[in-house]
Amino acid sequence: MTRPWLKDAVFYEIYPQSFCDANGDGIGDIAGIIEKLDYIKSLGCNALWINPCFDSPFRDAGYDVRDYKKVAPRYGANEDLYRLFEVAHEKGIRVLLDLVPGHTSEEHEWFTRSGEAKPNAYSNRYIWTNHWWQGGNGLPYVGGERERDGTYILNFFKCQPALNYGFLNPTEPWQLPADHPDALATREAIKDVMRFWLGHGCDGFRVDMADSLVKRDDAQKSGTSAIWRDIRAMLDKEFPQAALVSEWSNPPLALRAGFDMDFCLNNWDTGYASLMRDYDQPVNNSYFKKDAPHRDIRRFLDVYEKWYADTAALGYISLISCNHDTTRPRFGLDARELKLAYAFLFTMPGVPFLYYGDEIGMRFLDVPTKEGGYTRTGSRTPMQWNGGKNLGFSTADAKDLYLPVDPAEDAPTVEAQANDPDSLLSFVKALMKLRHDREDLQADAPYAPLSEGPGEPFVYRRGRLVLAVNPTGQTLRAPAPVTGLRPIFALGEVNADGDALAMGPQAFVVMGE
Ligand code: GLC
Repeated sequence: MTRPWLKDAVFYEIYPQSFCDANGDGIGDIAGIIEKLDYIKSLGCNALWINPCFDSPFRDAGYDVRDYKKVAPRYGANEDLYRLFEVAHEKGIRVLLDLVPGHTSEEHEWFTRSGEAKPNAYSNRYIWTNHWWQGGNGLPYVGGERERDGTYILNFFKCQPALNYGFLNPTEPWQLPADHPDALATREAIKDVMRFWLGHGCDGFRVDMADSLVKRDDAQKSGTSAIWRDIRAMLDKEFPQAALVSEWSNPPLALRAGFDMDFCLNNWDTGYASLMRDYDQPVNNSYFKKDAPHRDIRRFLDVYEKWYADTAALGYISLISCNHDTTRPRFGLDARELKLAYAFLFTMPGVPFLYYGDEIGMRFLDVPTKEGGYTRTGSRTPMQWNGGKNLGFSTADAKDLYLPVDPAEDAPTVEAQANDPDSLLSFVKALMKLRHDREDLQADAPYAPLSEGPGEPFVYRRGRLVLAVNPTGQTLRAPAPVTGLRPIFALGEVNADGDALAMGPQAFVVMGE
């Protein structure tokens, strides 16, 4: 069961620290996002995912939540977020918040109570061993921090203790089964957080580390999946339009667990890295790199097509331009290469996500780590709006910015690209418009590969359309069922000749009636 509004959804991911600073304090805020909703709409994006914007000590950029129901003061107040939902809805834009169900900040009140020596209602909200010297039995743990005689299990950084959803098969006295009343209470507490924001108008959640709930789960993640199915049942009853997208990167499992969408992430096993980020060797061998010596789109398609065949009837695979954990695609690709890569990503099935700034080709910057970002920080720098102070991001002094803006003379900006018909931005807008105009390019229209051999362009079918991309610097030909079709969208030189396509260097085409 999926949400009908997802069929034509294109998401825009916003890192709230870095999008638009409306009050001039150097960091982005909710009011800034509201100001830019028309811009987002002009791109053709009709849904947002906002990274965590809740009260937090920001040791992991907000993925360490201190209060799930309170907007972090640096972004504004809860009323600002409610207003964002309202204004976005008036403009036909849906808003997903980021739900972090696997862990909290070590400063969350639940954790403070859980660490007290005297047992209380929160003692089992986190996973504690029974003695200060007892380890986590293979799970990461920390001791010596609280009064309670025990160590506790971590989900990610040291500042992120794991919430207790129980163990699939407990083997130690301190491990609760997943159906223990205290493990069920954790689940209810997260449902309560979801109800709170959905009740105030949000449209669903991106779910952080969605597969991390039940510990020592099996390969099928059956314990964790059962929890998500239970949560989906609650949503179906109370908020049937609410959408969930998982950070899982295993659509066969995630979509069966009840998620509407699952991200295809830049992990070693998805093949996705081979499209735009295959540069961990002396040469850039990414599929969309013009001079890649050994490109092969099968490295991606072999995984994708297996997932697609298994899940097309269940929900959506979400292809991304990038995200806040991933190196910006501009790191390895120039503007032309990005156009071809986006043309492919945004004409595939499922529900795609554009990461803020990728539409203008923002660079990955070499900046010191910020709030636990480490190598991810370079993808989290401020949005570049225009040629003014701080490239239009903020009126604060440059030294007070959350992160620096791109210092390059030719730093890409929205303003510079908006009136240039050949810019990446104009291309992205045209591409999104085409997707909205043609049902055959949207989430549900069937996909099939047509040709992809070495020395051939990649030719694929979406519904009644035939698409082809040639990322190389040479003219390539392939047989393609294009008799009676004409180019309805093209980049570069394309010639249809009977049942064949000749694609000039770095070209893309959509052939339709
Ligand atoms: C996810 C987030 C990442 C965060 C981690 C811990 O992977 O995308 O940014 O650091 O979870 O919450």
